[in-house]
Amino acid sequence: MKTDEVTVILGAASGMGRAVAVTFAHSGRLILADRDESALKLAVEELSEAGASAEGVVCDITDVGDLKRVAEAAGPFRSLVLTAGLSPTMAPAERIYEVNLRGTALVLETFTPLVSTGSAGVCFASTAGHMADFSAYAPVFDDPLAGGLLDRLHAIGGDAVDDPHWAYMVSKNGVQRLVRRYAKAWGQLGGRLTSVSPGIIDTPMGRQEMAAQPFMANIVEDTPLQRQGLAQEVARAAHFLCSDEASFISGCDLLVDGGYIGASGF
Ligand SMILES: NC(=O)c1ccc[n+]([C@@H]2O[C@H](COP(=O)([O-])OP(=O)(O)OC[C@H]3O[C@@H](n4cnc5c(N)ncnc54)[C@H](O)[C@@H]3O)[C@@H](O)[C@H]2O)c1
Repeated sequence: MKTDEVTVILGAASGMGRAVAVTFAHSGRLILADRDESALKLAVEELSEAGASAEGVVCDITDVGDLKRVAEAAGPFRSLVLTAGLSPTMAPAERIYEVNLRGTALVLETFTPLVSTGSAGVCFASTAGHMADFSAYAPVFDDPLAGGLLDRLHAIGGDAVDDPHWAYMVSKNGVQRLVRRYAKAWGQLGGRLTSVSPGIIDTPMGRQEMAAQPFMANIVEDTPLQRQGLAQEVARAAHFLCSDEASFISGCDLLVDGGYIGASGF
């Protein structure tokens, strides 16, 4: 990547977003966005001290005005990585749909007009989005910005929709589908769009879920590589997907899960 290129990272203040920022540190100008102002400030300071050109924009990805400010700071971009998201123990189901599903759609709506030849984007989904058949939710995934999101989800999934674990799985499958759909618009503008689905990764979120959900230890045990992943390992996958090495890869999801989904029969 050239030194004058712009990389936008949404969710850059912690975990995998932070690792993505380190991986892209010397690829050009970094626009780091996160809703956590103090952690974002720290990330910008650390990257700047390491010689990166980094700028922070406080942004909640569910707020259109915030996203516009990030887009204005960035302009036409080379790479965009969306890691911001909420896990089951972090919020009630409604907010999980709001951030993971509607937030992803808002990011894609805001940044698609800034795609140009060579642009590439990666949205963070999850192995959770591979663990059931979510095809009944397709009409919602194809229009998550229409009003009454929760009502429309209830009409399909009933009471299960209010379970934060189900909300996480549904919303992450929705991210994968949104990426497949928006890849067409990005392709027409000369860009590529993909998603990654991490397995259990050792980040603040990963540690919180491991502590709250004992069954997650079984997932690690059933993972062919027999361990959790590291944030840098997923960041490197995102870097590859944004690079010219991935020039014919678009509209698909990459599992970065140590082989868990393949081995688990889902
Ligand atoms: N850690 C895992 O085991 C794991 C596994 C699969 C998928 N994922 C997904 O990967 C992504 C990154 O996870 P992580 O482990 O790095 O999480 P993390 O909690 O360590 O970091 C997430 C960052 O996103 C920010 N964020 C949350 N909601 C936001 C919003 N509305 N607007 C702007 N910023 C917001 C947080 O402030 C935080 O800095 C998430 O989308 C998560 O669902 C994580």
